[in-house]
Amino acid sequence: MYKSLDRCYNFSELRKLAKRRLPGPVFHYIDGAADDEITYKRNTSCFDDCDLVPNVLSGVAEIDMSVEVLGCRLEMPIFCSPTALQRLFHYEGERAVALAAQKYGTLFGVSSLGTVSLKEIDDLIHSPKLFQLYFHKDRTLNTFMLEKAREANFDILALTVDTITGGNRERDIRTGFTSPPTLNLNSIFEFMIKPAWALNYFFREKFSLPQLQNHVDEGTSTAISVGEYFSSMLDQDLNWDDVANLRQDWRGKFCLKGIMSPTDAIKAVELGADAIMVSNHGGRQLDGGRSPFDQLDEIVQTVGGQIEIILDGGIQRGTHVLKALALGATACSGGRMYLYALGAAGRLGVEKALNNFRTEIERDMKLMGVKTIKELNSSMVRYRKS
Ligand code: LAC
Repeated sequence: MYKSLDRCYNFSELRKLAKRRLPGPVFHYIDGAADDEITYKRNTSCFDDCDLVPNVLSGVAEIDMSVEVLGCRLEMPIFCSPTALQRLFHYEGERAVALAAQKYGTLFGVSSLGTVSLKEIDDLIHSPKLFQLYFHKDRTLNTFMLEKAREANFDILALTVDTITGGNRERDIRTGFTSPPTLNLNSIFEFMIKPAWALNYFFREKFSLPQLQNHVDEGTSTAISVGEYFSSMLDQDLNWDDVANLRQDWRGKFCLKGIMSPTDAIKAVELGADAIMVSNHGGRQLDGGRSPFDQLDEIVQTVGGQIEIILDGGIQRGTHVLKALALGATACSGGRMYLYALGAAGRLGVEKALNNFRTEIERDMKLMGVKTIKELNSSMVRYRKS
């Protein structure tokens, strides 16, 4: 069925396959970002501003690319960031990503706007899992989600802090993308020209957002864009005191997703977070914001050694992972790096994406002359003189 999946050797080929398989509005929801999408593009292009400097002749027959992050030993230094609405991309949704992540020994995040329940994920996999919290105005919903995460043995809580209001996602406005998808002449046309997607969406399990169950209709039975959801449902008064309280309530590992400034990184250390995800939400929120990789060195210089630093976003190649790790990131993560693959071919697609990364990272480590991730250091990265 997925004949061309085997021929997807990299991120951009998986993206092309997803584009072929997904209705326009769904593809553009994944692919799009805020305003002019400058930050989104920079998230990846910034890796090209520096070069790796390899060492040779160091006996690299056996490679260990594992890293320790948030109390988990990961068999590869990149993991699947939590992302929303996955059953819109492929009917297997989070189940596909969970099983693929488990197979490759890496971490997997489930979103507050996920489409499979936390309990079901717990029943499905025994590998580490992270729950991503959107802090809602409805405090009872926040408490409800945390209870469900605890009951379902989630190891890590990641609070997203860069969605205080919706980003200006003009592609979604143009295509009319909502959750659940709105049916109008344009969207019906888009669905009809992707019949495999449409059959799966309309005739399999009904779309829902189980984490919000009994609390919120928006997104499940009332159609809403993600931007509007953030602006109307999330608590815009969220502040450091709330985060400190949350840190106290959640006894497991705790991470802040969406930290970009050294000042905030210091606050994260002070309140006892275990990790920060240096992230600009895939360029989907503040266009004109700095890219995580551009900002990494400053963050490492400020809080390195005091908190784990996860470089989230823009990663398309194994060499991007190595550059981030060499500059002091503990691990890397990404959304689109597995979402196109999910849209292209479900679990097999995500496995292919992770396998491509593993193969590239192993080859790149050998070419860099390092046997373990610890051997990477900043002397192996040079910025070009402009
Ligand atoms: C996004 C959210 C839901 O669309 O993560 O960016």
